[in-house]
Amino acid sequence: MLCKAACPATCIQLVVLLSAWYGVACLKQQPRVAIIGAGIGGTAAAYFLREELGPEVHLDIFEQGEVGGRTQIWQNGSEVYEMGASIIHEENKYFRELTDKMGLERVQLGDDSNEVSIWDGQAFVFNESAWSLVTLYRMIRRYGLSYFYMRGAPAETLQRYKRLYDIQAEGQAFDTPEELLKAVDLYNLTQRTFRDELLGRIGWGTAAQKFAGEFVAGINRIQYNQGNGINAMAGMVSMLGAIDGRLFNIKGGNRQLAERLIKASDASLHLGTRVTGIYRREHGTYELHTKCTSASLEESHSSKYDAVLVAVPLELTNITISGADHTGLPRRVYQRTVATLVRGRLRPSYFGVQQVPKGEYVMVTENSTAPFSVVSRQREVPEGRKVFKLFSRQPLSNETLQSIFQDLTVLAVRDWEAYPHFSPPERFQPFKLAPGLYLNNAWENAASAMEMSAVAAKNCALLIARHLRESSACQVPDALIHSAKGSDVATILDS
Ligand SMILES: Cc1cc2nc3c(=O)[nH]c(=O)nc-3n(C[C@H](O)[C@H](O)[C@H](O)COP(=O)(O)OP(=O)(O)OC[C@H]3O[C@@H](n4cnc5c(N)ncnc54)[C@H](O)[C@@H]3O)c2cc1C
Ligand SMILES: *[C@@H]1O[C@H](CO)[C@@H](O)[C@H](O)[C@H]1NC(C)=O
Ligand SMILES: *[C@@H]1O[C@H](CO)[C@@H](O)[C@H](O)[C@H]1NC(C)=O
Ligand SMILES: *[C@@H]1O[C@H](CO)[C@@H](O)[C@H](O)[C@H]1NC(C)=O
Ligand SMILES: *[C@@H]1O[C@H](CO)[C@@H](O)[C@H](O)[C@H]1NC(C)=O
Ligand SMILES: *[C@@H]1O[C@H](CO)[C@@H](O)[C@H](O)[C@H]1NC(C)=O
Ligand SMILES: *[C@@H]1O[C@H](CO)[C@@H](O)[C@H](O)[C@H]1NC(C)=O
Repeated sequence: MLCKAACPATCIQLVVLLSAWYGVACLKQQPRVAIIGAGIGGTAAAYFLREELGPEVHLDIFEQGEVGGRTQIWQNGSEVYEMGASIIHEENKYFRELTDKMGLERVQLGDDSNEVSIWDGQAFVFNESAWSLVTLYRMIRRYGLSYFYMRGAPAETLQRYKRLYDIQAEGQAFDTPEELLKAVDLYNLTQRTFRDELLGRIGWGTAAQKFAGEFVAGINRIQYNQGNGINAMAGMVSMLGAIDGRLFNIKGGNRQLAERLIKASDASLHLGTRVTGIYRREHGTYELHTKCTSASLEESHSSKYDAVLVAVPLELTNITISGADHTGLPRRVYQRTVATLVRGRLRPSYFGVQQVPKGEYVMVTENSTAPFSVVSRQREVPEGRKVFKLFSRQPLSNETLQSIFQDLTVLAVRDWEAYPHFSPPERFQPFKLAPGLYLNNAWENAASAMEMSAVAAKNCALLIARHLRESSACQVPDALIHSAKGSDVATILDS
């Protein structure tokens, strides 16, 4: 039972006493938890809450847009392309385990990936070869031993990160990202730029600078559409997959995970519903105001919850919060990333070459003048046709696209506020804004990734479970405990 687990001995006696009067245990009604946002974060939180609390909790998920949040696809029959978050590392425990548990199929991405080339706006400064020995030779010729000096760092970071899974398995949760990051020695990485961390490791020589500005920044621009000024933890996350290639995604689209998690957690999904306000009430409960996004009328509903999880970055939504001070919270700026999916053929002339490097996967240097951050040929394409995905910081005009591609058809465009524009030293919002009110995206500016949202979800689920146990132990018994300390029992029971 929720109640007894958290009840001190005296409380249990009082509950028994009270039960005699009311014929009920101190566990009053079923506690109610509201989750705002049906992305990976919100839906994983629902799943973890159900795991923690069993059937005794009612879960409502509110979603104003699409289930999956920043994991969305463009689809034509069995042709599926990720327009948002696409890759997951195999050591991302929660995402991987949940994918398996939900009966979804993982697709390995590593080995047969396209050879990349690096474009500085004028020339291809580096071409990967299909032969790894050739690539290695080119790497050493251009960048010296930089790659080897850097190689171990992301894996080292991952090892620290993985300690979080043990900590969480023991039921330990943290009120703030700082505490959580410090518990596994990752906090410092969020306080300096990746550039400083990287050059500190590989040296500040010419070859090292070149390596940083071309190879490393190129990868950061793919992952975060930003250069090496991102914080060092985000940089490590960005590099990890590029180095060991142990990556996967979900067959048919990553967003299916969010869908299945909602079902598995037996949460009530309120689609087309925007949360507009969270109001703290006496007794520490919350009232949620919602609006139907499709209704032309300014229709508004409200309902009461024992705990609320905000599973969307506060900066990306207009929720009024009252009764919990959030005025002084650090605010993040989000990086715009436009994902453009096209069918067509790359024009060699755009790149000033006879033939575009074979992999047709072009990344760009840190300050390249190219209008895109990456253009890559997609793999799962029907015979004879080529589909490319571009990420850019601004929408690409038809003229620009025409200059890059011949036989162009634009299939889909998706304009995202994609991830924080990282700016170390990072300052964090708390996971626990007030008792009963939690922010799942508080640590997204340490690094933004689906697994980051899942780990935060586990942390917040543990915090919420603890809060519900404490407050359900206290709802009635708390009054009694106070009364036992000398106040008037009759007054408390009357009120
Ligand atoms: C182009 C792109 C590429 C990326 N690539 C990767 C990658 O390869 N790998 C990776 O791990 N990560 C990647 N990411 C980052 C990843 O998408 C995010 O870190 C992660 O999906 C965030 O999940 P979330 O559930 O925390 O938030 P979101 O997915 O943003 O979910 C929040 C949800 O809340 C809803 N919402 C907002 N306000 C309200 C409201 N008031 N009421 C009701 N609902 C509301 C939104 O509609 C949204 O569905 C990428 C992101 C983008 C945009
Ligand atoms: C969708 O697929 C069909 C069948 O493969 C194809 O004929 C059609 O051109 C595709 N549509 C787009 C927009 O790619
Ligand atoms: C983090 O930085 C602080 C202050 O610079 C230092 O004392 C501490 O040892 C560092 N921790 C780790 C894990 O590197
Ligand atoms: C790119 O620009 C940033 C910001 O101006 C600068 O710090 C960085 O050194 C530049 N990178 C390269 C490789 O020139
Ligand atoms: C928040 O509200 C402002 C003004 O009403 C509006 O301009 C903005 O687009 C809204 N932001 C979001 C994320 O809905
Ligand atoms: C990369 O390949 C292109 C041809 O596709 C060529 O023009 C360019 O010189 C190559 N770059 C290097 C550094 O070898
Ligand atoms: C670009 O071209 C498409 C058709 O190919 C058209 O629908 C769209 O409006 C054009 N966009 C602009 C900005 O001209």
